[in-house]
Amino acid sequence: MKISLPLISASATGLSAPVDAISAADAYLVGIAYEDLCQGTVSDDFEHYGIDLQKLKATGFEGKTGEVQILTGSNNFGPGLVIAAGIGRFPGVTNIRTATIEAIRAGTSFKHIASYLIYAAADLDDDDFEMAIQAHAEGIVLGAYAFREYKSSQQKTELRKVSVVAPSKFAAAHRNGQRIGEAVNFARDLVNEPGGSLTPRKFAGRVQTMARQNGLSCKVWNKPAIEKAQMGGLLGVNRGSEQEPRFVQLAYTPKKASRGHLALVGKGITFDSGGLSIKPASGMMTMKYDMAGAAAVAGAMFAIASLKPSVKVSAYLPMTDNMTGGDATRPGDVLKTHSKKTVEVLNTDAEGRLILADALSIASKAKPDAVVDLATLTGACVVALGDDIAGLLGNNNGWNESIEKSAKRTDEKVWELPLVSEYRSQLDSSVADIQNIGSNYGGTITAALFLQEFVGEGIAWAHLDIAGPAFREKAEPKGATGYGVRLLADLAANFKKSELSKPPAIPASSKPASAKSAPTKKKKS
Ligand code: BES
Ligand code: ZN
Ligand code: ZN
Repeated sequence: MKISLPLISASATGLSAPVDAISAADAYLVGIAYEDLCQGTVSDDFEHYGIDLQKLKATGFEGKTGEVQILTGSNNFGPGLVIAAGIGRFPGVTNIRTATIEAIRAGTSFKHIASYLIYAAADLDDDDFEMAIQAHAEGIVLGAYAFREYKSSQQKTELRKVSVVAPSKFAAAHRNGQRIGEAVNFARDLVNEPGGSLTPRKFAGRVQTMARQNGLSCKVWNKPAIEKAQMGGLLGVNRGSEQEPRFVQLAYTPKKASRGHLALVGKGITFDSGGLSIKPASGMMTMKYDMAGAAAVAGAMFAIASLKPSVKVSAYLPMTDNMTGGDATRPGDVLKTHSKKTVEVLNTDAEGRLILADALSIASKAKPDAVVDLATLTGACVVALGDDIAGLLGNNNGWNESIEKSAKRTDEKVWELPLVSEYRSQLDSSVADIQNIGSNYGGTITAALFLQEFVGEGIAWAHLDIAGPAFREKAEPKGATGYGVRLLADLAANFKKSELSKPPAIPASSKPASAKSAPTKKKKS
């Protein structure tokens, strides 16, 4: 259910909000900082809004980020119910987003909420305040999300409208936040859909519909087209399946792409059984989310279509499930990838890298300035970094740094892991050009070293292993998080090819012999 999100214009300073405009709301949302409550730096504003701080304190509420308490207002201002949202010690963009998500999640039984939460961040300078307004709008849309496709009971959420009281000069930031939130939810819907229902054909169809509605160009390759293009990695993984594979290419092409060309690649395994190297039952339970990389890229393209950055963005989404059919790829089989490199498949459960190999070499052909791929690639990354943080590995420091900056701004956490060439020899195969698994340890690094082999010469490339943060199994709300949509949208919005590191000059000693100048004979003296 899409909710409406009008911006109610208010003065840029203070809480002089147009009371009449929001008195129709069923509850109003106010942000309360830890300091205000615990150190007595309380402003008159709260009283103006009918909040009895003593009463609020008595509930045990401290104002920590994400804390929510619903209480009756103590005067006749507007609606009688207050949703108090804790925004922590140092109210900033991230706290505002988190606080909003939690407050809206707690407030879905109200039809119409009027939000003053953004004023809790009024001390921020204009740029940060603008980002906070965007984060607030994102938070509203994200907090209202529920996946109820397969529930037969009536929808529990009543929420239809959130009126945000904010200075009208920030209307664009507010609208961008709303669009980004909707793009994240688009990705979550795709990821939450069961593997047996979201076949590659349907996945591609839904992405194509989104592209058409948003003015993106979209090309869907069916199985004969994939065969013609000799995508041996994608076909090899698809071999055990009853469902045809798909390869989707999206493009956002602005009139002026002055800041360069960015390529996004996403792993689209609609279900990962492991193939013949089959997973144990417990490891298979959530494997519908093995297409979260492709869903995040599709969601980011949705957001980019409305943010309209002056950078060309191309997206490549290989899609198949990984099944155990009678003609499935056997361990020991050799696949010839699109790049012509041959791969010995020693473990059919290391399938993501096989489909990404084809996608990365096709993406490289267009010679983009930079590529980033998103993939639920290794369990090892979850062991290393846990549920909340993606692993970041890449071949260009400047590009890695740009990604780290976007991760900070969007609160989608990344941590860099070393792409050490010393481990590359673990992938040496005795029968093919390369094999698809390394030794037992450092699996996230060897997976990335495998991918690197398929990235074109001189292209800045980074890989995000999102196996941890793409899906929540334990914490609420359970299911798809849409991780990566915000980060990629921010990355495109701020992309500058000048921020990429220049590839190091190749020292003469490591140039191929043919490139060296002929050795001059030393004269005997
Ligand atoms: N899709 C899995 C990775 C995964 C594991 C994602 C857990 C999310 C949660 C991937 O295809 C896989 O099975 N990787 C193997 C690689 C191994 C065989 C080298 C893994 O991580 O065990
Ligand atoms: Zn697998
Ligand atoms: Zn997988």
